[in-house]
Amino acid sequence: MSPTGCPPGTFPPYGPGMNETALTVHQTARPHGFPTAEHFAFVEHALPDPAAGSAVVENLYWSVDPYHREMMDDVPGGFALGAPLEGRTIGRVIASRTPGLAEGEIVFHRRGWRTHAVVMPEEIRRLPRFDGVPLTAYLSILGGTGLTAYVGLTRIARLQEGEDLFVSAAAGGVGTATGRFARLLGAGRLVGSAGSAAKAGHLTREVGYDAVFDYHEGPAAELLGKVAPDGIDVFVDNVGGEQLAAAVGALREFGRIVRVGTISQYNNPDASPPRFNYADIVEKSIRIEGFLVSNYRDLQEELHEFAIPHLQSGRLALDETVTDGFEHIVDAFLGMLRGQNTGKIIVRDCTQIPSVN
Ligand SMILES: NC(=O)c1ccc[n+]([C@@H]2O[C@H](COP(=O)([O-])OP(=O)(O)OC[C@H]3O[C@@H](n4cnc5c(N)ncnc54)[C@H](OP(=O)(O)O)[C@@H]3O)[C@@H](O)[C@H]2O)c1
Repeated sequence: MSPTGCPPGTFPPYGPGMNETALTVHQTARPHGFPTAEHFAFVEHALPDPAAGSAVVENLYWSVDPYHREMMDDVPGGFALGAPLEGRTIGRVIASRTPGLAEGEIVFHRRGWRTHAVVMPEEIRRLPRFDGVPLTAYLSILGGTGLTAYVGLTRIARLQEGEDLFVSAAAGGVGTATGRFARLLGAGRLVGSAGSAAKAGHLTREVGYDAVFDYHEGPAAELLGKVAPDGIDVFVDNVGGEQLAAAVGALREFGRIVRVGTISQYNNPDASPPRFNYADIVEKSIRIEGFLVSNYRDLQEELHEFAIPHLQSGRLALDETVTDGFEHIVDAFLGMLRGQNTGKIIVRDCTQIPSVN
């Protein structure tokens, strides 16, 4: 493997505009339930030319996320059919007609799901570089995924040292980041749920979880009772449904539920809402609070200050599943919805990553 993680020999000599054509993913139809490859199309077109004041970025790394599934539905702000999709991505400026962007610069922007994007200087973010911190970290632990975990623990749960935590979808991007941050913040017993025994084993061996159950193995309340027999103080909920109901039962007095996401329902719109004892919320003084990470962008710097020294010292590791090849971006997205990822799912173009890491 090369230092970038790409297989050796996959780098052609770098030069701007090496590719003659560009590819963009469009959504072609609205799914009901699980989407399939048939709901997407790869559209080929000529390399874009930058208009005055803009630049062309060749994308190198793409994030695909559960919220893209929500945007596939006919919802306000959702994806338009037959138009380029949006998503977080990191690329290199290959042609510029603005003094605000120099050729060769590496930038973060939101025109993902395409090989090339035309961007204005105000649409990009420059990524600070630190020894030992690869670019993918800006889509995983230092990006929206890590920020979600950090906000959930520090601002919504307001986690105190020694408190016991349950995290659902613990093996995913947010779930692994939550586990690792919780350990660094001094959490007590840390338990989670995941979709397979292999993931559960990985989380306890590598990520710092004390116990993890496979949620397919039985009723969530029973499984949670086994791994957290004395209850929990905080539930970081990426899933909703039955696991949310189980957590209400397991929470102690002054417990907090951090509502991060509801992935059990994104592909199952007819799922019935979780059933739990509403009186528990009052009698145990439970606080339930949801949040959108987009409202906490001002904490990005704070996250860097917290996480980067730990990344450099090795106390914090990256959890990423990397798929090679833009042509596999749809498969990577669909695979993530089915739980084929461990940690943050990232797509990488190995043919265009010569020496950026
Ligand atoms: N509030 C915010 O601002 C914000 C920001 C980022 C993410 N989120 C939410 O956080 C959650 C995790 O996002 P992520 O980016 O880290 O994705 P992720 O956890 O890396 O990937 C999704 C995971 O969900 C699990 N899953 C799929 N269907 C499930 C089901 N029916 N029941 C239980 N688990 C299921 C799969 O793992 P298994 O193998 O374990 O099933 C899959 O790997 C999502 O709900 C997302 O919408 C919210």
